[in-house]
Amino acid sequence: MKPDKSMSDKDTTKTTPNDEPLIAGHNYDGIEEYDNPMPGWWVWLFVASIVWTPIYILGVHQFGFINSYEDDLADKQAELAEWRTAYEDANPSLDVSDESIAAYVGVAEHVEAGSALFTKNCAMCHGPAAEGLIGPNLTDEYWIHGPANSNLFGVITNGVLEKGMTPWGSILSVEERSQLVAFIRSVAGSNPPGGKAPEGEIATITADAG
Ligand code: HEC
Repeated sequence: MKPDKSMSDKDTTKTTPNDEPLIAGHNYDGIEEYDNPMPGWWVWLFVASIVWTPIYILGVHQFGFINSYEDDLADKQAELAEWRTAYEDANPSLDVSDESIAAYVGVAEHVEAGSALFTKNCAMCHGPAAEGLIGPNLTDEYWIHGPANSNLFGVITNGVLEKGMTPWGSILSVEERSQLVAFIRSVAGSNPPGGKAPEGEIATITADAG
């Protein structure tokens, strides 16, 4: 506190700057005490915090009428799960499964779209007729990562970086990747010239391989 002139003054009126009086008899070794209480708002804050403490402790730990951080987190996560479900319901194509992809297989429009995507993005590694080049032959019955629609979709989506297969998940939409699977299914057993030797394990491919 800034030394107040009136304290060191010889002036005997002795009041605080707010005109509060001296407390009579509070004089120790020449040090006198002003009646200078804490401001009202401060005292009320202090009292309120004392009153609030038991309410808060009981509310959180005993009766549960005040949410703890864990409760808030659980609420928000439930809200998030609702949003997610609503979003997925509104975008059914996000639910990828053997069945959802099977709906593309054998549908001319999707096979054609897949064929165009394949020529543009995949042919340089898998050959123009999917006969295999740097990447494996996609027309035979051998699969390194499994024969199911979802296996193919998974490899296309996530790639196999260490083997040189590019991940397409962030480049091509779910629909486009499903169309690519439809295209690959359409060339199954086509036995194109110059086909690359089989890699992986043999599996019988059916239109709705699952
Ligand atoms: C840069 C070269 C490259 C490109 C581009 C590429 N691939 Fe591949 N792909 C590979 C290689 C290499 C493998 C083998 C991965 C392994 O050995 O695990 C592979 C594997 C695959 C497999 C799994 C084959 C199996 O036997 O399990 C599928 C399906 C596939 N690619 C589809 C595609 C499609 C569809 C595209 C285009 C969107 C594409 N690839 C583009 C190199 C490529």
